[in-house]
Amino acid sequence: MLRRLHPEQPESFAFTPANQAWAEGQITKYPEGRQASAIIPLLWRAQEQEGWLTRSAIEHVADMLGMAYIRVLEIASFYFMFQLQPVGSIAHFQICGTTTCMICGAEDLIAVCKEKIAAKPHQISEDGKFSWEEVECLGSCTNAPIAQIGKDYYEDLTVERFTQIINELAVGKVPIPGPQNGRYAAEPLKGLTSLIQYNSGKIQYNASVQLAVDIGDTLKRIDGTEIPLLTPWVRETADAVVAEPEPVPIKEASAPVASVPESEASAPEPEAAPEPAVPAETGEEIQPETLAAAREGGPDDLKLLKGIGPKLECTLHELGFFHFDQIAAWTDAEAAWVDTRLKFKGRIQRDGWIEQAKILVAGGKTDRSKQQSWKGTDQDG
Ligand code: FES
Repeated sequence: MLRRLHPEQPESFAFTPANQAWAEGQITKYPEGRQASAIIPLLWRAQEQEGWLTRSAIEHVADMLGMAYIRVLEIASFYFMFQLQPVGSIAHFQICGTTTCMICGAEDLIAVCKEKIAAKPHQISEDGKFSWEEVECLGSCTNAPIAQIGKDYYEDLTVERFTQIINELAVGKVPIPGPQNGRYAAEPLKGLTSLIQYNSGKIQYNASVQLAVDIGDTLKRIDGTEIPLLTPWVRETADAVVAEPEPVPIKEASAPVASVPESEASAPEPEAAPEPAVPAETGEEIQPETLAAAREGGPDDLKLLKGIGPKLECTLHELGFFHFDQIAAWTDAEAAWVDTRLKFKGRIQRDGWIEQAKILVAGGKTDRSKQQSWKGTDQDG
């Protein structure tokens, strides 16, 4: 099937402030120079926010990650988890039509879609609430036939149950995902023959269904406030964005690491300050000793420190750092001075630059330097 951008596109896209903070947090999970690795979560978030992936959302994400638009479009058009056209306001059904599901009744489910939603895939129903498409194997063949909505699977479907599900969704209910025929998970239809404690009734749902029920976002559009951020090193910043700021108490200012996206760095206040680049007592930044150039013998290979790539090494040179012993000597306040001058905050502490530098100064090896020696050996060999 051809997957192309929809001919009608909105003018622009922007993440909600909370989603923007979330996205910036995701990017910091990856090493310098590898920010493109955040592509899937960012695209998925854009889709959760808008319901589908618009051209401007694709371009916005590409700009955030410094990627060519075509590279991001290639990814968005390859995976059918991404919707390149508008979808129903309540739900978009992805019906598995591959062999097992087909044998077990997928064609009947598709007939229900044609009758109750729209005659063709990707057409939106007249009331605007639903759309559907046929997809390839969803990897849950033991529970065929399957329909996916958002993140969740509805399994062991029959025409009757699937019709009920559509009716329930139409009136604002969210049916419990998972097997719809009383099965707990993917056990034999005649019941468990082993691990029978899982069928004792003590655990109501299987793990996936329990998570879906706990999170409860099967049908929701996501604005960034629902799911805990998984990037604690930028948590303070995101919270500040979500909760419209109050002055950050001194205690917060001395939290181990925080990040202020550059776009916000010039905002007047408040600042979720990282570790005290500005010590509370003096109000002054503490700049570590820098060098105008590397000492005789040339600079150390700072890329031997985990988290430092060629681009970051250049930045460190520009700031006046060329040698491991300089980095090993940074105090917390000095490290914070450097951190505020890096594009992606929090790396010094998260990747342990100072500890790694101390090991190298003492003549030891870090994981990165061991890898380099193995490569050298391979090449020599
Ligand atoms: S064939 Fe439908 S989930 Fe595998």
